[in-house]
Amino acid sequence: MIGLPRVHHRLTDSTNERAKALALGGAPHGTLVTADEQSAGRGRQGRAWTAAPGDALLMSLVLRELDELLPLRAAVAVCEAVPVEARIKWPNDVWVGGRKVSGILVEGRPQDGWAVLGIGINVTAEEFPEELREIATSLALAGAASSTERVLADLLVSFERQLGASAADVLAAWREHDALLGAEIRWEEGRGRGAGITDAGALRVDTESGVVELNAGEVHLQRSRPD
Ligand code: BTN
Repeated sequence: MIGLPRVHHRLTDSTNERAKALALGGAPHGTLVTADEQSAGRGRQGRAWTAAPGDALLMSLVLRELDELLPLRAAVAVCEAVPVEARIKWPNDVWVGGRKVSGILVEGRPQDGWAVLGIGINVTAEEFPEELREIATSLALAGAASSTERVLADLLVSFERQLGASAADVLAAWREHDALLGAEIRWEEGRGRGAGITDAGALRVDTESGVVELNAGEVHLQRSRPD
């Protein structure tokens, strides 16, 4: 069962780090680590993830049944769990009203049969530091007041559903939530318009010289507001 056993920390470095340690120690599929606060929360591409104590759902799952669509399954599950219309900004940020409400970080050793799925969702935050104000939001700011435990319960249900869904259904659900479809996209080496994702999760971009495919981890999209 996804979400059990559960370890909760009032304060830890990173729930992903704690879940990794548990995975290496043999923790079963579905083991959940949560925290009220992280001192070294991390995001994709070496960035930090910060949240004031108690303001965000901070969770990591040890997973031992893996496939390549795991990050996509997680993003769809977050969209379905939050009580407000949400969209996915490739590869797997979740946006509400053009601002980021959730980030997803998958780490681990698929070759050893495990991965850690880390998810942060801003739930009760009423304000963000100056540098994040334009780009981040919370469920509370989006008018969908909830609690971290409520969101966690709904997320575990929707994620378990997504884990059991066929690849075709996951891709279809992801595409329904695609925030970048038709949106202007810029990255280090080019620009164009979002044209959906491939079945492997690469971003298709319509450029002046034809459609190119961008792989998560290899490119860094420059900021643009999809809404
Ligand atoms: C991103 O947007 O770049 C991914 C952010 C992932 C943040 C979550 S919070 C819980 C888990 N523990 C971490 O250190 N990171 C993930």
